[in-house]
Amino acid sequence: MTKTFQIKSFGCQMNVYDGERMAELLGAEGMVAAAPGADADVVVLNTCHIREKAAEKAYSEVGRLRRDDGSRPVIALAGCVAQAEGAEAKRRSKAIDLVVGPQAYHRLPQLLREVEAGARPVDTDLPPLDKFAALPARRRAGISAFLSVQEGCDKFCTYCVVPYTRGAEVSRPLGDLLIEAEQLVAGGTRELTLLGQNVNAWEDGSETLATLIRRLATLQGLERIRYTTSHPINMADDLIAAHRDVPELMPYLHLPVQAGSDRILKAMNRHHSADDYLRTLDRVRAARPDIAISGDFIVGFPGESDEDFEATLSIVRTVGYASAFTFKYSARPGTPAATMDGQLPEAVKDERLQRLQALVAEQSRAFNLSKVGAETRILIDRVGRKPGQMIGKSPWLQSVFVDSDARIGEMVDVRLTAALPNSLAGEVVTDSQEAA
Ligand code: SAH
Ligand code: SF4
Ligand code: F3S
Repeated sequence: MTKTFQIKSFGCQMNVYDGERMAELLGAEGMVAAAPGADADVVVLNTCHIREKAAEKAYSEVGRLRRDDGSRPVIALAGCVAQAEGAEAKRRSKAIDLVVGPQAYHRLPQLLREVEAGARPVDTDLPPLDKFAALPARRRAGISAFLSVQEGCDKFCTYCVVPYTRGAEVSRPLGDLLIEAEQLVAGGTRELTLLGQNVNAWEDGSETLATLIRRLATLQGLERIRYTTSHPINMADDLIAAHRDVPELMPYLHLPVQAGSDRILKAMNRHHSADDYLRTLDRVRAARPDIAISGDFIVGFPGESDEDFEATLSIVRTVGYASAFTFKYSARPGTPAATMDGQLPEAVKDERLQRLQALVAEQSRAFNLSKVGAETRILIDRVGRKPGQMIGKSPWLQSVFVDSDARIGEMVDVRLTAALPNSLAGEVVTDSQEAA
């Protein structure tokens, strides 16, 4: 009988990408994805270790996989919790049949065979890039697809587990990326988001992320290119220039600063000051004035004073974000910040988070409002809930609702008519209206 599988990905977009590759891999082994809601023979939990809550979720998910009759699927713990905990994960939960890290999942079929033979294997080797050569060719992905171009991190921010769970910074070779991009575009992908924990540090010889983007922009059928996540110290001049010169490169930049106080940035080991960050954004905005800026923030880092936190609010006011992700500092085992003096009470973190989130929400509303009246193109990626309604993405990554008979994957010219809390409404601009 054909075996079924389910892959549940948590955490960042790199995990989403890895989840798709694992699905392709198991598909090539003759397994099929379980129907939504149906029990699967094998469940892969593709986990995230970034904050305590995310890591705990991995184990609560394991518990939820027990079926009413007391049986359970074969459970594979994958992703960053698997990497961080290794064999310890098997001790924490007897239900986990195998543990496989983010650089070893190409061996999943072999590991599943070992489980069938009665073993509980753990594979957390970190050989960079081996997996890509061992994975099957890309199948049809979505209209908008992810492409991991760079993995790992050498920055060692003092709060962060990623350098330990994903290993050292490595760039995939240009040739491999062009082949994978061509496969995706041939399968119908219209928008590529290039992924990396430090995507703007991608390099291959003299090639940089900017030259990679310029090459991808020549692919017939590829309408849009995005990339995430960037580190401020790797925001090179040629990448900034690409935002001015390459029409396929969307006016959106996710550039985390984490905090506004130089004292805290130093304790975080960010390698940049608040002013360095602001000057980088000045250069970006000079190249592409309409660019949407997004960011990540951590509140309540050890030793963060009221004054330090005010500096975070202040840098947010200066930048004017289109969107931002805000997090309460979470002490992670093995990271330097976890043992620093001045760990803050939960209540202080909660209060700061609320104030920061209110400010970010206000900015994001203001950004959406500033686009009302503009004419732009959207890439249709979903069917709306109302009859005749379709949903697409603006260049600035806002969802736009529009009444249109366009199909998924088509580009539609719209006029933005209203700002909703987390999206925009638009109307189709027809040629006749344009001529009028
Ligand atoms: N490589 C990316 C993303 C890293 S993880 C970057 O450097 O920007 C995504 C975000 O999670 C980080 O930007 C940071 O804001 C947050 N984060 C990482 N570790 C954290 C921790 N220990 N507690 C709270 N937030 C954390
Ligand atoms: Fe983590 Fe810092 Fe590396 Fe980003 S740059 S992945 S926050 S260590
Ligand atoms: Fe989480 Fe690993 Fe991504 S820790 S954020 S899944 S790199």
